[in-house]
Amino acid sequence: MEKFELHTPSFRGEIVIGEGAAAERLPALVKGQKNFVLTDSRVYALYPGFFAEYFGKDSLFVLPEGEKSKTFENLGKILRAMTEAGLHRTSRLFAVGGGVIGDIGGLAAALYMRGISCVQVPTTLLAQVDSGVGGKTAVDLAGVKNVVGAFFQPCEVVVDPMFLRTLSPREIKCGLGEIVKYAALDREIFRTLKENRDRLTDLSFLSSLILPCVQHKAKVVAADERETGERKSLNVGHTTGHAVELASGLSHGECVLWGMLLETQLAGKYGVTDSAYAAELCSLVRDALRAEPASRLNFSALGGFAEKARSDKKNEEDGNICMAVAKSEGEWTLFSLPFAQYRAGMEAIIAKIGEQFPL
Ligand SMILES: NC(=O)c1ccc[n+]([C@@H]2O[C@H](COP(=O)([O-])OP(=O)(O)OC[C@H]3O[C@@H](n4cnc5c(N)ncnc54)[C@H](O)[C@@H]3O)[C@@H](O)[C@H]2O)c1
Repeated sequence: MEKFELHTPSFRGEIVIGEGAAAERLPALVKGQKNFVLTDSRVYALYPGFFAEYFGKDSLFVLPEGEKSKTFENLGKILRAMTEAGLHRTSRLFAVGGGVIGDIGGLAAALYMRGISCVQVPTTLLAQVDSGVGGKTAVDLAGVKNVVGAFFQPCEVVVDPMFLRTLSPREIKCGLGEIVKYAALDREIFRTLKENRDRLTDLSFLSSLILPCVQHKAKVVAADERETGERKSLNVGHTTGHAVELASGLSHGECVLWGMLLETQLAGKYGVTDSAYAAELCSLVRDALRAEPASRLNFSALGGFAEKARSDKKNEEDGNICMAVAKSEGEWTLFSLPFAQYRAGMEAIIAKIGEQFPL
């Protein structure tokens, strides 16, 4: 079991990672206050014994599974249920689920009585390597992802890989997307992935990367909680990834992989990413996209996905499209382009991918 603290200027939280972390930490965390447990329908159906054992007496709210639940309307329903359950300022919310539950649950905890204690119990690979840590909370609104949210640190993140055994291969693939993002930012993770290209679907190998990914994220968040500098690096692949996600409906992690592939090639073309490194990184991303179940995208059916990049939060007010891209091994930078250039560059890259399909 690995245990460490995440210090930000305003907050000190704990992160516990390892098989058995839930059994070790939850009995103490549920004691001494009223609790409110948020989960989704799939997690609840898969783990009835877990909820009965740790949260038997607590208020439980089960959202339908999936991104479609990450709405402002559901946030209102959760806050209403918290009020009706008579929660106090000293109460605690447990968000048990993937990134959707972590994001909407974290936001409900941030808003209820101006903030109550929150414990994140991430149950997908994506949430364990990334979204469960760092205190970004959000819901989608008016077709824009994560447009309403807050920075709100959980008091503890309990990362127990035992949950991962029930994930479908597609959800494991989704987590792989964020792991490859860390490879683009961290030399050690990049080398480990390169040396283990044949294990990109092996859950025990991927689980061994949870700790280094979370350590990388915790270091970045501690230095820049509010994303004014270093934390922007964690958006590698995400500007275009979010646009592809909105246009295609593919999973977040797979779209991050597509976003990395497209943005790295674009940045390589403009000399922002070292060309030899761009080729190496794209080769790793391609292997991840090919890993079963292969991520296929029919770009011609996507319509003007580039348009969707215009609404991304990471853009600046001058209308440029702003991307965080890898520069060389373990190095990153911001890269902005006027929309017309971004769209033309993407169209040229996609035309080439189309010829090489499958990748
Ligand atoms: N806050 C952040 O820093 C951050 C970072 C990355 C992504 N995100 C957000 O995370 C979301 C994506 O997260 P996700 O991929 O975990 O999605 P998700 O929460 O929808 O989970 C994916 C699917 O896996 C199921 N599931 C969850 N745990 C399971 C388990 N142990 N076994 C079997 N099935 C399980 C869920 O029911 C769901 O159907 C997006 O909304 C994205 O915007 C947030």
